[in-house]
Amino acid sequence: MHQAVEDHLTLAADARDLLFRTARTANSFAPDPVPDEQVRAIYDLVKYAPTSMNQQPLRIVLLRSAAARARLISRLAPANRDKSTQAPLIALLAADLNFHERLPEVFPHAPDARAYYADPAVRERSAVFNATLQLGYFILGVRAAGLCAGPIVGYDEDGINRAFFPDGSRRVLAVVNIGRPGPAPWRERLPRLPYEDVVSSA
Ligand SMILES: Cc1cc2nc3c(=O)[nH]c(=O)nc-3n(C[C@H](O)[C@H](O)[C@H](O)COP(=O)(O)O)c2cc1C
Repeated sequence: MHQAVEDHLTLAADARDLLFRTARTANSFAPDPVPDEQVRAIYDLVKYAPTSMNQQPLRIVLLRSAAARARLISRLAPANRDKSTQAPLIALLAADLNFHERLPEVFPHAPDARAYYADPAVRERSAVFNATLQLGYFILGVRAAGLCAGPIVGYDEDGINRAFFPDGSRRVLAVVNIGRPGPAPWRERLPRLPYEDVVSSA
């Protein structure tokens, strides 16, 4: 028998629900705005996500203007366009491929850290890996604000990179629609893999 979750977890039950158990991926959104101050509060939590050598390669572009939203939505897979059109806030999450320039500031005790990432291929792999880790924290941060996140990777990736990051210094990781849920926002909850299929001991 497994002991009750309560015996092992410190986080309050309502917070567990908000972040994990009842949190869902929204497929429709209400029009209530998501102000910059709320995004700032979300980032104030998300910034503590651990990353390799504290490199923090995630960059977030808030698509506030009608022109920027249209530029993005036209590059989504057709099935994903309605969701983003409804979302009061669309965030474009990207990896900064030049994150190493900030290492002297964010990892100051290793003065030669920047040089570890001189190879662009090594740098890109690390940027995408660590920014993706931060993306997971970002989704939790959105949930902590009582909002829903709707991540999307069904899009023209090259087209988005060309449209938003033409100098090649960033690479898109995901679009995240953010807001309160709209009408019929959830699909049926899909099954999760059981512990025994995922966790093994060696
Ligand atoms: C990185 C990522 C990319 C996703 N891309 C899409 C997408 O392109 N279109 C879509 O409708 N849902 C997309 N989803 C939503 C997932 O299908 C959804 O989060 C998953 O089925 C779990 O749903 P639940 O949180 O409601 O249980 C994406 C989710 C993630 C995390």
